[in-house]
Amino acid sequence: MKPYAELTKDELEVLIKNLKKEYSEYQALGLSLDMSRGKPCKEQLDLSMGIMDALFSTSDLYCDDGTDCRNYGTLTGIPEAKVLLGDMMENNPDDIIIYGNSSLNVMYDTVSRAYTHGIMGNTPWCKLDRVRFLCPSPGYDRHFAITEYFGIGMIPVGMTPEGPDMEFIEQMVSEHEEIKGIWCVPKYSNPQGYSYSDETVRRFARLKPAAKDFRIFWDNAYGMHHLYDTRQDHLIEILAECKRAGNPDLVYKFASTSKITFPGSGIASLATSPNNMKDIMAQMRIQTIGHDKVNQLRHVRFFEDIHGMVEHMTKHADIIRPKFEMVEEILEQNLGGLGIATWTKPNGGYFIGFDTLPGCAKKVVSRAKKAGVIMTKAGATWPYGKDPWDTNIRIAPTYPSKNDLEIAAKLFTLCVKLVSAEKLYKEMD
Ligand SMILES: Cc1ncc(COP(=O)(O)O)c(C=O)c1O
Repeated sequence: MKPYAELTKDELEVLIKNLKKEYSEYQALGLSLDMSRGKPCKEQLDLSMGIMDALFSTSDLYCDDGTDCRNYGTLTGIPEAKVLLGDMMENNPDDIIIYGNSSLNVMYDTVSRAYTHGIMGNTPWCKLDRVRFLCPSPGYDRHFAITEYFGIGMIPVGMTPEGPDMEFIEQMVSEHEEIKGIWCVPKYSNPQGYSYSDETVRRFARLKPAAKDFRIFWDNAYGMHHLYDTRQDHLIEILAECKRAGNPDLVYKFASTSKITFPGSGIASLATSPNNMKDIMAQMRIQTIGHDKVNQLRHVRFFEDIHGMVEHMTKHADIIRPKFEMVEEILEQNLGGLGIATWTKPNGGYFIGFDTLPGCAKKVVSRAKKAGVIMTKAGATWPYGKDPWDTNIRIAPTYPSKNDLEIAAKLFTLCVKLVSAEKLYKEMD
């Protein structure tokens, strides 16, 4: 098939007729499929069932340092969990706080604390006329929801396969004191699966923000989530790089075991500098007497150490890699060479980033929905849910079965073809 842009009006008319016929055949199937959710599938969750057997009523629930995990105390997490999560995050256990079940919750809390009480003695953000965040886009909708909730203005920043537009970021943070933060998913980003290059990380660590309380919100949610044994992305460790650059307090780094064990029942962690840690602890002491140490111990006993976790992640990869590859194959087979879409081929993470022709994403998602396939809402990957070009769609291949995914992906490509052909036809009028 020729690129759609080279088709004549008559050819497009025939094409649209044929595609509509195919589409109505899909509609007649009465499908009810979901490609929207960035969740592990049942088989992935089954991998972690052993965690339920890691502790019994007869188990020794004491840590190596004598802490009784059944009781209050040990505010920043048990030492064994700090070692495990420290290895996972590539940080010193002393630079880590272990939290509860969700890193998103820790991010919310971090923004909330800055908003009500300020960061390290700076004016609380709620007392400032204007606070703004930089938002590499497309990005993670729940990050944007947090900043929107606090009334923090969001400025989209363009993304490239090397990471966000650093020139823009450097200029904005150095010139505007009201810019207080930036959301980053540096590895296998949500939704494109991009990983920041060494140069990008180095430039982040060397930012010269006008605001003393500017912080990088470095959400390394997919640090362990490789799809391949050999094709893996590796990041420069940001805390160490900030320290080297003489900017030790610049970053809050987040992670969790949500997509390693059970989402919602994992453990979350934050790594940061001693100064930031001290600042955070002043609040945390008021907020809680401690998080769930039994769950921390359960995770440690289940994995034993980082090698156990790495091995575990290869099993996740074995389940989801074929799904990613199948979707990529269907995209290539059905859309390759047509000049109507581009998509990413990530080495890890949970998503494929997909871009339609301008002005088509909403229509594609709506068409797919009308034929029984739910995609992530078009626009969701941009601040305020507003994709300025209406092109980006997040594909989440992990949750559906391979059979369902195959049908959903095929229908999706059909919708892309139909909406694109209709757009080009209309433009010829
Ligand atoms: C980039 C990113 N950060 C955080 C989360 C949520 O993490 P948690 O379950 O630890 O709150 C997700 C979940 O999809 C995510 O994609």
